[in-house]
Amino acid sequence: MSLFPPSLLPPSTLPDDLVLRPLHTEDLQLGHLDVLSVLSPTPALSPAQYTAIVQSMLARPDTYYPLVVFSPSSNKILACATLIVERKFLRGGGLVGHIEDVAVSQLAQGKGLGKVLVVALARLAESLGCYKCILDCSQDNIPFYEKCGFYQKEYEMVQYF
Ligand code: ACO
Repeated sequence: MSLFPPSLLPPSTLPDDLVLRPLHTEDLQLGHLDVLSVLSPTPALSPAQYTAIVQSMLARPDTYYPLVVFSPSSNKILACATLIVERKFLRGGGLVGHIEDVAVSQLAQGKGLGKVLVVALARLAESLGCYKCILDCSQDNIPFYEKCGFYQKEYEMVQYF
């Protein structure tokens, strides 16, 4: 099952041997968590746990848009990123897109996949009616996001629990 309709996506700019598509329920078996582990600790999930997370996202329609790059030849997810759409009271109930958890598997980095994902999610945010799209990143990744059309504004603040 697809987490959101593929028809919402802009046309893919990937090479023909790769597929840009919404996350599928079966992507646990295709290495989704292995890809995320390049970004942050990603402990294994059982299929039931993974499905419960997917269901919790599906229960919040118009909010979660997880996107992946899939390689049919290796039957593996190579890269992933998620758009989360937030409804505001301000701006007449405006929408803000948040890009989260951008990760490209080690061997696939530097081949343009991260940029394809981020640009596609920003275009998706725009087409869904968001008035802006934002993300947090490390200093090291600023040049990457600038290549994706973002610019630096404000500061990130955090509390960990
Ligand atoms: N410094 C300078 N330029 C960079 C960097 C960098 N660190 N990373 C990429 N670029 C440039 C590339 O040279 C390329 O330039 P070009 O368009 O002129 O050729 C452009 O940015 C696009 O690069 P991609 O090949 O698309 O980058 P990649 O597929 O490797 O994805 C990413 C970049 C996501 C940072 C990847 O390296 C990765 O997964 N890193 C580890 C996890 C991580 O840090 N994720 C981001 C967390 S922030 C968040 O999730 C909101």
